[in-house]
This record gives sequence, structure tokens and C-alpha cells, in this order.
Amino acid sequence: MTASNDLLAQLADSAPRHLEELIQWLRIPSVSSDSSRVSEVKQAATWVADKLECAGLSVEILPTEGHPMVYAESPRIDGAPVVLVYGHYDVQPVEPLDEWVNGPFEPTLRDGNLYARGATDDKGQVLTHVQSVCDWLASGQPLPLQVKFLIEGEEEVGSENLERMLPELGEKLACDCVVISDSGQYADGQPAITYGLRGIATYELTIDGPSQDLHSGSFGGAVMNPAIALCQLLGSMVDEHGRVQLPGYYDKVRELHTDEREQWAGLPQNDPEFASAIGVEQLFGEKGYTTDERRWARPTFDVNGLTSGHQGEGVKTIIPASAKAKFSFRLVPDQDPKEVTSAVRQHLENHCPPGVRWNLEADHGAPGMLAATDSRFVHAANRAIESAFGVLPVLIREGGSIPIVTRFQEVLGCDCLLLGWGLSDDNAHSPNEKFRVDDYHRGIRASAILWDEIGKLN
Ligand code: BES
Ligand code: MN
Ligand code: MN
Repeated sequence: MTASNDLLAQLADSAPRHLEELIQWLRIPSVSSDSSRVSEVKQAATWVADKLECAGLSVEILPTEGHPMVYAESPRIDGAPVVLVYGHYDVQPVEPLDEWVNGPFEPTLRDGNLYARGATDDKGQVLTHVQSVCDWLASGQPLPLQVKFLIEGEEEVGSENLERMLPELGEKLACDCVVISDSGQYADGQPAITYGLRGIATYELTIDGPSQDLHSGSFGGAVMNPAIALCQLLGSMVDEHGRVQLPGYYDKVRELHTDEREQWAGLPQNDPEFASAIGVEQLFGEKGYTTDERRWARPTFDVNGLTSGHQGEGVKTIIPASAKAKFSFRLVPDQDPKEVTSAVRQHLENHCPPGVRWNLEADHGAPGMLAATDSRFVHAANRAIESAFGVLPVLIREGGSIPIVTRFQEVLGCDCLLLGWGLSDDNAHSPNEKFRVDDYHRGIRASAILWDEIGKLN
């Protein structure tokens, strides 16, 4: 059978159940970074494992040193391509809680959107593929290809366990193409295929000064303030346009190709609208690059969190004993996260003022990714997306990171297809995360048609 009118009609009939199932999954608070949520994270893994098992796939829960991964596969089809769907069931923390209209784990429908943590990143998106495969199997017809699933619980904390285990999983995960829906459309009404992602390197820096907080009247002027030292150090990492000041930082940055710049210039970019949608008066960044170029293909530095001194009500005149920052760099091909770590250490060595001590912890590191733009899988996805969304997708890169993707390319030697169903105002990682219900259903349809299109390739 093809993704014929029969299957598409069946998908339409099943739409209320598809939505109800996503709501069930979203109720499980699977925050991977929260050590008090270990059992809820496991429950989210079990939920999707059960769903896949009920549909007749063979399913395994793969334990890791951290949160478990769910692996499933449909029967092998001789001579047909093998696709691996990768996604994650873990979610980001939810604070600030008081900015959510509904509780982050009380999924709520409003104006055609489903609001909950994980709605778009990534439960809602990965479930589109789970639903399409389950419904295809429920139709009683064999799939025209083999689909494998790897749905992990540690993407939002850097996928380190998966990375460690990938070589030994190589045979199980062997495939012609990895399909990932964990990114976005270019704009409302303009779906996209993403052929590039930025990499990332994340850090925690602690500046220690006096052995305890001190009265800033008695001691101010006599000791270096760790919070000031921290601010100076962070400030010294970038210039006023956001150019990173680490030694050698730009040495390996691959320059944008002229063709690529021309193609992106044809996308409907609108800086004032982009600025106003995020509530800023004007945009910011490196000179000589457009906003999309800066977001997708230029490396950056950002502070993600700052802590020091008195955070409570009123005045407390102290010199804090210590100060901490979490910060990160977005990387592009061919920057190496390990070399960035050495450069950060060198920079701290050179710039840390006397009278305080620094300690740097490197957390996650992953390189930037580029995938083929004209593979047979891209052509198949073009047709599937056009059928489901009514519009041909545009080719884009994105600024976010999926730490394991370059390892898939290296270890599995496969193609990579990033099909994002989200929108840029879906509030991923922010309060009031949402997924448009229509995009969820269109994603399921596109996925069902994609299996058909890929099945026809051989
Ligand atoms: N789904 C995102 C990655 C993404 C975001 C792709 C936007 C395309 C556009 C993923 O879940 C994510 O948030 N990754 C983290 C990785 C980090 C925690 C190691 C990221 O990019 O910050
Ligand atoms: Mn994600
Ligand atoms: Mn994320």
C-alpha cells in the first residue's frame, strides 16, 4: 500500500486520539536535569515504549548510566531502505513557574495550540513519527521500509551517555538515513528542511574571593569583589558587537558560501518583526552578516545564568565571597569544542584579576553539523512535506544544537534529514511552550507520506 487516501483518511479519523495521547505524554514531568525527577523521566520512557510495543514494534528499553533510552524497530524489509528516527522525551526545566498561564505539566488547548513543557521540544514532534508508524502498522499493511526509533532521555543535558554508547550500538542503529523532527519551520506557512545546526560548548565558572561574605563598608576598597571580577571576565569574552575575544576562536570557522548567502537572502526575513516578536527595540550582533547568517552560521558567546551575593528583599551591603556564571558558546563547522575549552582557560589565565581564584567546569561540547542538501532523502522529504503542508519546504540552517547528530554521521555513516514542525514562537525552553495542533497533525501526515516516498527510492 502507499500512503494512499485510505491511510490518510485513517490518520484523519485518529486525530482526536493522536492529540489525547500527546496530552498523556506531556503530563509526565520528564525534566532530565532535575535529580528529583528520575522516576518521572523513566515513566516518560515507559510511556513511549508501551505505545510502540502495542503497535507491534519490537521494543527495548536501553539502560544508560543516566536516563534510559527507548529503542524500537519495525520488521526488516528486504531491499528497502532503513530509517532511524531519533528524538528525545526529556524536557528542559520549567522555571519561572509564575509566567506559565497553565501548569507546564497540565497540557492545555488554547487558540489551536497545545501548551505544555515538551509540546514542541520534543515530545510533540517525535510523536508525529511514532503515530505515523503505529497507524501504518494498524492498517494491516507492511511498511515499505524498515523504521527504527531511538528516543532518548538526555538530549537536553548533552547526550553524553548516548555518545559513549554509540559505537557499541552501531550495528543496532545501522541505517541509510536518520530522520529528526526537533527543529522548526522557517515561518508560519513556510516549512523547512534544516541542513545545518550549530554546535555548543557550555561551562560553569566560579570566582572565589574572601572566605566569607564581608561588610562592604569595612572591607570595600581593600579586597577584590568576586562578582565584579566575574562581570569583568565575562565582559572581556566579547566586544560590543558580540565578536568573541578568545585567542584563535575564529581560526577554524568555515566562512559562508556565496551560494548559501544568496539562497538565504531569498528567504522572507524581516528584522523589525523578528525584533518586536521577542520584545526588543533592535537586534544585535556581528557586523557584516544578516540576522539569519548570525543565528545559523556564526559562532557566539552567551551568559545563561549568573549568581552572586544578596538576592533577597532590600539592601545587604556585602562583598560576596563568591560568584558563579553559566555560559556557553554556539559553534559552527569546523570549530572544535575541546579547543574552545583550552582557549577559555587561557583567557581566564590572562585576564583574571589578582585577589580572586577561578575554577572552570566544562559541561557539554558538540561540534556544528552540516548535512546534504540534495540527497535522495531530501527529495523524498520535499514531496512528503509538500503533500502534507501544501507548500514546498525551504532549505535552512538553524542555530540550536542536537549534540549527537554529528556522531550519527560519523559512526553510522548515514544521511541526516532534519524535518522541523515547530514555529519560532513555540517558546521552546521558555514559559508557555506550545505546539500548534494543526502542525502536529500535518507532521503525522508528512511522516506517513515520507515512509512511502523513501520506500519507493530503492
Ligand atoms: N531541539 C533543540 C535543538 C534545536 C533548537 C534545533 C532550535 C533547532 C532549532 C534541542 O532540544 C536543544 O535544545 N538542544 C540544546 C542542547 C544543549 C542542552 C546541549 C541546545 O541547543 O541548547
Ligand atoms: Mn529538542
Ligand atoms: Mn531543547
